[in-house]
Amino acid sequence: MCGIVAYVGPKDAAPILLEGLQRLEYRGYDSAGLAVVNGKTLKTRKVKGRVADLAAAMPARFKGGLGIGHTRWATHGVPSDLNAHPHVDADERIAVVHNGIIENAAELRRKLEADGVVFASETDTEVLAHLIARTADETSSLEDAVRLALKSVVGTYGIAVVDAQRPGEVVVARNGSPIVLGIGEKEMFAASDVAALIRYTRQVVHLEDGELAVLKADGFHTFTSDAMETAKEPFTVDWEAGHYDTGGYEHYLLKEISEQPETVARTLSGRVDDRFHIAHLGGLNMDARETRSFRRVKIIGCGSAYYSGQIGAQLIEELARIPADAEPASEFRYRSPVVEPDTLYVAISQSGETYDTLAAVQELKRKGGRVIGIVNAVGSAIAREVDGGVYLHAGPEVSVASTKAFTSTAVAFALLALHLGRVRDLSPADGRRICEGLRRLPDQIEQILKLDEQIKALAQSYANAPGMMFVGRVRGYPVAREGAQKLKEISYVHAEAYPASELKHGPLALISPELPTVAIVPDDELLDKNLTTLGEIRARSGRILMIGHRSAEQADDCIVIPKNEVELDPILLTIPLQLFAYHAAVALARDVDKPRNLAKSVTVE
Ligand code: G6P
Repeated sequence: MCGIVAYVGPKDAAPILLEGLQRLEYRGYDSAGLAVVNGKTLKTRKVKGRVADLAAAMPARFKGGLGIGHTRWATHGVPSDLNAHPHVDADERIAVVHNGIIENAAELRRKLEADGVVFASETDTEVLAHLIARTADETSSLEDAVRLALKSVVGTYGIAVVDAQRPGEVVVARNGSPIVLGIGEKEMFAASDVAALIRYTRQVVHLEDGELAVLKADGFHTFTSDAMETAKEPFTVDWEAGHYDTGGYEHYLLKEISEQPETVARTLSGRVDDRFHIAHLGGLNMDARETRSFRRVKIIGCGSAYYSGQIGAQLIEELARIPADAEPASEFRYRSPVVEPDTLYVAISQSGETYDTLAAVQELKRKGGRVIGIVNAVGSAIAREVDGGVYLHAGPEVSVASTKAFTSTAVAFALLALHLGRVRDLSPADGRRICEGLRRLPDQIEQILKLDEQIKALAQSYANAPGMMFVGRVRGYPVAREGAQKLKEISYVHAEAYPASELKHGPLALISPELPTVAIVPDDELLDKNLTTLGEIRARSGRILMIGHRSAEQADDCIVIPKNEVELDPILLTIPLQLFAYHAAVALARDVDKPRNLAKSVTVE
């Protein structure tokens, strides 16, 4: 959700900022801008549109070794040149880029306007530029100016600030929106995401909420809002710059779908014990006695993370026989949840930065809940906040729609369910069955990917439908939900998911030749019931695309995929739906990797 980059060093800042912004564009992409300081002059350039539009609008000479940049996902004020960041004060001395939301912006704006300040934009961010400029006149350093100005601000922010009167330093601050420092050779970087830094350095430092930092070419120091110095240990990122390229694929989404045989193998690596048929999840920091003590599992996450949590709840109930359910973190945090000491809470997040999920984790911790994380981004805010967890090791996911992280999360849940099950009543024989099933997943995903041409042709033939229904029963229902989510977010085709059993209780009224249904029909104990549902749809002349392990005469089209253990089948059943959504979006000429109105990491409420 919006991207920030900052640079201070001997090189020209602008090309570094533009490169960083391109890497961050998946976080927000409705406008972009940057500011550099040269001598004691501040120059800014900002445009409505993509980072490429900003690059095209750059003058030939835009020199300066200190700068900040931003790519925006609008919250306050429409996307426009004026609302794009950086925002500056009246003297064009202070420039600020900001992620997050300033909740008391209206009140601060009124006060500043009463004092004669004239605003150039509708954004909440601009108040920061004016506030800092006022404080800068009264303080001896930019760090104090930012620190003191922020005392009157209520809300969430990750910010980067430069002052043309104090060239050679940039001040950053974090409260609810991520800021990462990158340590280079006689140069320093900062960004809202390591993606922007990885081309230049792997040595990073994450700021905590309430922390600020001053970056100069020869180093940095961090401190709290009360000017207490803090000690930080640099951390080495193991993701490589190449992970952020499309690697010859037309889109990141297709690349990330295609990577799944390897990413699933990485999630499983070193965690499946064939001797005792258990899972090794050392990051949970829990002994067998504690693992046995939970009587319930509650899973929270947002978007696709939540749907993978529904697959996880089903796996835990089946394999460990512990009541488990998933809930959107965005709902959970607002309803004053009852937090029980014998419940294991599991927070899921690819980015580890989703604000609703982070806030839910913090609420759980305030109430003494035991929270573990299933997270992809190592060292991210949620990973740091939880008591332990499972990293996905899926590598960076760039496309806004989640695919490989979704699949790896479901695999991590299978491992967690096996772990919780084997300290309870899951027999060694069943444990062995699941371990063997898990090991088959990468090859089976490879086989599903080979169905690409068939799925592409089907997607093209369904893409022009005005809407689609997705149905599945029990294990198939979260798969249907994720299938509908993928289709709607990247192709904008209206898609609705229903439990197959609920169709006759209402939505059957929608079925007609114009509304096709995608039916998830695994070969499990519910096969006959599912085929009956297909018969009901067919009787209303509804077109059916069935995803399962065999063809059925009730369906118009079938995608037949390899079968695993019934508990693990949902993991595989989602893969053809990813390809289906991808090809439908391409057929409709959508911006696959950057769908309208969305952003990858939603770091605001
Ligand atoms: C956004 C994205 C979704 C994603 C969700 C959760 O809404 O558009 O694709 O599933 O955030 O993201 P997380 O990083 O917490 O998994």
